[in-house]
Amino acid sequence: MADLHPDNPYAKDRFADSTKKVEFPEEVKKRFDVILTRYPTKEAALLPTLHLVQETWGWISPEAVHYVGELLDLAPSTVFGVVSFYDMYNQKPVGKYQLRVCTNLSCMVNNAYDIYEGLCHKLDVKPHETTKDGLYTVVEVECLGSCGTAPVVQVNNDYHESMSVEKMNTLLEKLK
Ligand code: FES
Repeated sequence: MADLHPDNPYAKDRFADSTKKVEFPEEVKKRFDVILTRYPTKEAALLPTLHLVQETWGWISPEAVHYVGELLDLAPSTVFGVVSFYDMYNQKPVGKYQLRVCTNLSCMVNNAYDIYEGLCHKLDVKPHETTKDGLYTVVEVECLGSCGTAPVVQVNNDYHESMSVEKMNTLLEKLK
């Protein structure tokens, strides 16, 4: 079975570096301003703002957490609490393709761990690591809500259902 220990939340790289500032490019800032008009309070715009951060930089860095806090008048701890609650937000840089393997009950009994561990082995990465070429990140996730077609692997925004090790290998070839 794969190593299930989560990352240390107190690791040094989880804290913002005060010498590194991030700021939305002008075009993204305009989109942020439009988002603000759609919500009754700044705090209510937190989730879409975090999506915008992830779309812009691919992940939500500790520095971006502080930046979002400044934009929305929220404490960084509030922003981080939301970022760390939803696993759709990347707390580390990720590869071009994020391979999210569901290992919850229905998927697990349908050999999801064979797919998950097979991917880690084939790509020579540990769980939640990215390959050296920056192409793939392998992630274990909880139920993807498609238990009837287990096992399920999500690749970026697409679901691949009724998967097997063989189908996963074929899919990997197409993702290069
Ligand atoms: S258990 Fe895998 S999609 Fe629900």
